[in-house]
Amino acid sequence: KAVSLIGVPTDIGAGHRGASMGPEALRVAGLGEALKARGVDVLDRGNLAGPYNPWLPPTEGYRHLNEVVAWNVALRDAVAAELEGGRLPIVLGGDHCLAIGSITAVAAHTRKTGRKLRIIWLDAHADFNTSAITPTGNVHGMPVSCLCGIGPAPLVEIGDRKPVIDPSVVRQIGIRSVDEGERRLVHDVGLDIYDMRYIDEVGMRRVMEEALEGVDADTHLHVSFDVDFLDPSIAPGVGTTVKGGPTYREAQLVMEMIADTGRMASLDIVELNPAFDKRNQTARLAVDLVESLFGKSTLMRA
Ligand code: ARG
Ligand code: MN
Ligand code: MN
Ligand code: MN
Repeated sequence: KAVSLIGVPTDIGAGHRGASMGPEALRVAGLGEALKARGVDVLDRGNLAGPYNPWLPPTEGYRHLNEVVAWNVALRDAVAAELEGGRLPIVLGGDHCLAIGSITAVAAHTRKTGRKLRIIWLDAHADFNTSAITPTGNVHGMPVSCLCGIGPAPLVEIGDRKPVIDPSVVRQIGIRSVDEGERRLVHDVGLDIYDMRYIDEVGMRRVMEEALEGVDADTHLHVSFDVDFLDPSIAPGVGTTVKGGPTYREAQLVMEMIADTGRMASLDIVELNPAFDKRNQTARLAVDLVESLFGKSTLMRA
């Protein structure tokens, strides 16, 4: 297994400053070393460069749209290069608007190589807003809608095809905060959402079995891990905490069941915000969970 770490130090799509410190916090927490210890060939590509966050109010429903586009174009190309070279890209965000660039490259790659795409979206939020319905104008609340072709021209036309993905490839897990207009929209497009109530009722094991159903040897599995997926009691280091998230054990099971498929071929780790963290505990938890994503488990051998 060969992976490349791509740092994307920006909070350009977020509503709080600080996700720009995410890549370094993950490195300090030992992400590279943990993967190497699992026998993974790790290359740290360093950080991408992009525009500074001007921290302006939204215009026409978007904050910093031009800067968001610039970061995502850079990331799209960096992820494409890693996939082209046969390496598994791990995007160290940065805020969740970066999933636009990351998944755009992944989707194009699956079309080139004739593989199926499945996206596991771990998040407290559906991230399916538009300029008309967003309560904030923050583009980190819009990456899924943009990827599905609903959004501003420079973001929905960032890929080889518009829309970049069909909503049917997405499985969202851990959702517990969906805005008013957003709720209607996810319903209209039929987004597959496993919200916290469903997780409570049927349990995480069945949720993951359903979300991973149909994943086979021809599937490229992309995991977009928004750290605010986790319950804030264990993961305070994010800008947009929502109470009532998955526990440590539930999160481990998610990662282990994804690892068991052996099909994960790209990963985003986003929304980690060290400014809200305590002694880097959320970054260390993210590293712990990524170890499980790469097959670490109590009784199975490496
Ligand atoms: N729904 C809210 C918004 O659109 C919050 C989005 C949070 N997204 C995230 N990736 N943390 O502003
Ligand atoms: Mn979120
Ligand atoms: Mn998100
Ligand atoms: Mn672990």
